[in-house]
Amino acid sequence: MTSIVQLTGVTKDYGHGDVSVHALRGIDLSIHKGDFAAVAGPSGSGKTTLLNIVSGLDKPTAGKVMLGGDDVTKMSAAQLSRLRLQRIGFVFQAYNLMPVLTAFENAEYVLMMQGVPTAERRERVMAILKQVGLAGMEHRFPRELSGGQQQRVAIARAIASRPALVLADEPTANLDSATGSALLDLMTELNEEHGTTFLFSSHDSNVINRAKRLIRIKDGAIDGDDAPH
Ligand SMILES: Nc1ncnc2c1ncn2[C@@H]1O[C@H](COP(=O)(O)OP(=O)(O)O)[C@@H](O)[C@H]1O
Ligand SMILES: [Mg+2]
Repeated sequence: MTSIVQLTGVTKDYGHGDVSVHALRGIDLSIHKGDFAAVAGPSGSGKTTLLNIVSGLDKPTAGKVMLGGDDVTKMSAAQLSRLRLQRIGFVFQAYNLMPVLTAFENAEYVLMMQGVPTAERRERVMAILKQVGLAGMEHRFPRELSGGQQQRVAIARAIASRPALVLADEPTANLDSATGSALLDLMTELNEEHGTTFLFSSHDSNVINRAKRLIRIKDGAIDGDDAPH
């Protein structure tokens, strides 16, 4: 199996001395191409810290993080942001769309940063917005969309650049359960039909149950992983 991400002996401490918080304690984890994996655990268990370390947004205190063939912990900030731009799509709990940009422009943004020509950008973004069920809403601003629709724009933005990995930190946390379930339907479809690799976190059992691989995390340590190794 091709490993997209490989964490070895990853620890993360916040703070110093007496007030130190051990957010991650010795994580060994591989994410494989085509995974549809959930990181599940209660609030404060280390899910966000783990996802931020996978993407290089945060540095581990100790351990090794490989993304493809590259050691993330040895990269400069500039190399890291380039790597994120090219290989990772992000979906956040709070959508994080740019309020002054339309749905189309939000989804187009990463492709612009990558220097994809205008005509190709337009074609790809229109196709992706259609795919996520937002055809006809291209010109709407985030405030003119429901929470579920905004999160679909966030998914469109995340997959527009065809990243090797999509990271989604509690993507359904601000959605009602029906809308959250529909978002999971979309993610599943993208995984099954396009092979998009997803690593998402949640503490909601309805969301966790939709994963094809369940990584349980407890007090910063892996407490179960049903992946075939
Ligand atoms: N920037 C930070 N500074 C200090 N402690 C932090 C910081 N971020 C997270 N923590 C602590 O690390 C632990 C794991 O947090 P987090 O990864 O956010 O968990 P989760 O996403 O599962 O709720 C918690 O105890 C949290 O309080
Ligand atoms: Mg979190």
